[in-house]
Amino acid sequence: MNHTPGKQDDLVTRSLRSVWHPCTQMQHHETLPLIPVSHGRGAWLYDINGDRYLDAISSWWVNLFGHANPRINSALKLQLDLLEHAMLAGFTHEPVVQLSEQLAARTGHVLGHCFYASDGASAVEIALKMSFHTWRNHGKPAKREFVCLKGSYHGETIGALGVTDVPIFRDAYDSLLQHAHVVASPDARNAEPGESAADVARQAAGELEKLLQERASQIAAIIIEPLVQCASGMAMHDPVYLQEVRLLCDKYQIHMIADEIAVGCGRTGTFFACEQAAIWPDFICLSKGISGGYLPLSLVMTRDEIYQSFYDIDVRRGFLHSHSYTGNPLACRAALATLAIFEEDDVLNANRARAAQLTMALAPLASHEQVANFRHRGMIWAFDAVIDSPQAAATFSQRFFSTALEHELLLRPIGNTVYLMPPYILSDEEIAGLAARVQTVFARVMAA
Ligand SMILES: Cc1ncc(COP(=O)(O)O)c(C=O)c1O
Repeated sequence: MNHTPGKQDDLVTRSLRSVWHPCTQMQHHETLPLIPVSHGRGAWLYDINGDRYLDAISSWWVNLFGHANPRINSALKLQLDLLEHAMLAGFTHEPVVQLSEQLAARTGHVLGHCFYASDGASAVEIALKMSFHTWRNHGKPAKREFVCLKGSYHGETIGALGVTDVPIFRDAYDSLLQHAHVVASPDARNAEPGESAADVARQAAGELEKLLQERASQIAAIIIEPLVQCASGMAMHDPVYLQEVRLLCDKYQIHMIADEIAVGCGRTGTFFACEQAAIWPDFICLSKGISGGYLPLSLVMTRDEIYQSFYDIDVRRGFLHSHSYTGNPLACRAALATLAIFEEDDVLNANRARAAQLTMALAPLASHEQVANFRHRGMIWAFDAVIDSPQAAATFSQRFFSTALEHELLLRPIGNTVYLMPPYILSDEEIAGLAARVQTVFARVMAA
């Protein structure tokens, strides 16, 4: 690493003086590095001194096909000369129509309409509002409560925080929130000796059913991160949980909202995570990877019955929700280029081979005595560091992050959970290099 003072320090100082960085206690930057990025290529980010970092978490899980991807770049350049933006109320355009058609086709047209926004949390807000409003349109305004899972994360706006169960993000705002019912997580790590992940999933569904028996008439929807609860530490569950929830939602007449913001777009091995349970929810929220990590784009897909319940002469039965950049043509064009790469490169199949290779390369960690719960699904890997001292545990994440940077690696553990969510373009050499770096960093941090 070549930390020569100069341009880098200027940019860092100016940034700290003028930019309030997200999800950060800014004072920590008195000791923690702030990396001034100048450009990206493929899986690598480069700082202004020419040091590079393998982006093993896809820049907060958004980047699928690498930075400065030539195919997405050229699609955007063409779109830029045609139409940068037009309001979507009263107007429409080719990119938003094509994207909606292609996504609906990926659900066999079960979820036939897409409603657009920009960030993941906005999609969650939309799904919650739409669910409530659907029941209201059906003459059931009392259905206004929501259910979420223990350890769930659905974003940080006030409505999304109400269905989020991560204390560090929620507690400061607790008095502002409409609280959801929090039910057991099907996290496979909860298995007792002799129990399978499917057993844990069925028990968790049993707990949900008890709640629904009592309160279904007041509950609008349950919101779930299918297969992997990412932000609370990559908690993975058996697909049978999704099947059980689908059955319960039908039986007790509540909506199932699949928040696929992190797990959609091939991240768990199928395009939608729900496909692995062979079920469709009533709403799917998508964001992050859908634009290839290029532009803020989120959307909510809904079943046609739900769409139809708003379709009326009465304006108040309509879904009167909007954001200025709803359906932005540039963002939709980036999404179309992203979907085209899935087809042209047979990405889901190619990822199976990549995943097998990386799993094999990480095998020494899976059996490491200071590692618990090594787990993997699709293009997500995670393991928990076994740390005895509470002091060491409290600083593990930050120490790992800083040490990783010294090894040209961008990895930010969640607590003591180290996870990898790389873009879908790693070469054989990058896979081997990534696994080797993770092991070296882990060994250094655990020895310190
Ligand atoms: C499952 C899930 N839902 C919602 C969100 C919120 O998305 P955004 O940060 O774009 O608002 C996230 C972000 O990490 C997420 O992982």
